[in-house]
Amino acid sequence: MAVYLITGIGGFIGSSLAHELLRRGQQVRGVDNFSTGRRENLAQILNQIDFREADILDLDAMKLACDGADYVLHQAAIPSVPKSVLDPVGSNRANVDGTVNVLVAARDAKVKRVIYAASSSAYGDTPTLPKHERMTPDPISPYAVAKLASERYMISFYRCYGLETVALRYFNIFGPRQDPSSPYSGVLAKFITQMLSGQQPTMFGDGEQSRDFTYIDNAVEANLLACTAPAAQVAGKVFNVATGRRITLNQTFKLLQKLTSYSGSPVYAAERGGDIKHSLADISHAEQHLGYKPEVDFEEGLRRTVDWYRSQSKAAGA
Ligand code: UD1
Repeated sequence: MAVYLITGIGGFIGSSLAHELLRRGQQVRGVDNFSTGRRENLAQILNQIDFREADILDLDAMKLACDGADYVLHQAAIPSVPKSVLDPVGSNRANVDGTVNVLVAARDAKVKRVIYAASSSAYGDTPTLPKHERMTPDPISPYAVAKLASERYMISFYRCYGLETVALRYFNIFGPRQDPSSPYSGVLAKFITQMLSGQQPTMFGDGEQSRDFTYIDNAVEANLLACTAPAAQVAGKVFNVATGRRITLNQTFKLLQKLTSYSGSPVYAAERGGDIKHSLADISHAEQHLGYKPEVDFEEGLRRTVDWYRSQSKAAGA
């Protein structure tokens, strides 16, 4: 049994990792300051994990948290493009300074490996699709710059200190427990909850932007594979975590109309600053070196997610 430290354990991805690790009989420790994470995400597992309420900007707390950990899954972040456009200093603090603290603490505690929640936004709006890891990054938003900087810190700590690190470039992860309530929430969480409650969603731009939306179980699997894959294949490296398919927001809206029985249309508004137009991953590098294969496709993931939000609203109404 290994000890996994999850930063941002109260978040959507962090809590999903925790649930799966517990299911596999592993020992889970977690930190969160609940700036974007939610206590509800931990309600069912709080008595099975070693939870410490702490900020990744607190180096001493990170050192305590890393002490005795085998693996660190660094998910804590302020994960929003528009929020970073409004507050680049806050974005940099959480997404870069926080990462450096986690790395220093992990290095000093001699953890076996650090897995990092990197972002496909690092690619920017370069016209070439699909995006592969050998492409020169061209981040647009402060968020994307911060995520890329942290990714480079991962590689730097491997090169300078021999700390094994793996950066996973997430492509629009979605699924149960993603917070729909903030203006900065992911589009699927927002659209699904709005459509289930009969509210009209807002489409920023013409709706023809596309994304390689990736169901959460695939991202969880990628993290666990990244912990155990041979160091020679993965340490100090970057991998896309996606499905290798893309869909436009307009097409997604149509699928959601069927799943939610929402018959209205979206309202179209101005394009969002800092957004990229199209996103699609080449996942061959992850397939080859991590043994990653997306097990849940977009449509199935969407069905499961709609079912989950529906069950939540029923439980809340009951
Ligand atoms: C998302 C993630 C980011 C991650 C990146 C790459 C979130 C909140 N952001 O960024 O952390 O690094 O993928 O994996 O999960 N949109 C609407 N209406 C809305 C909300 C959004 O039309 O109400 C549009 C946006 O303008 C954008 C698209 O939907 O064109 C996707 O937006 P969003 O879900 O915020 O994700 P990304 O910005 O792609």
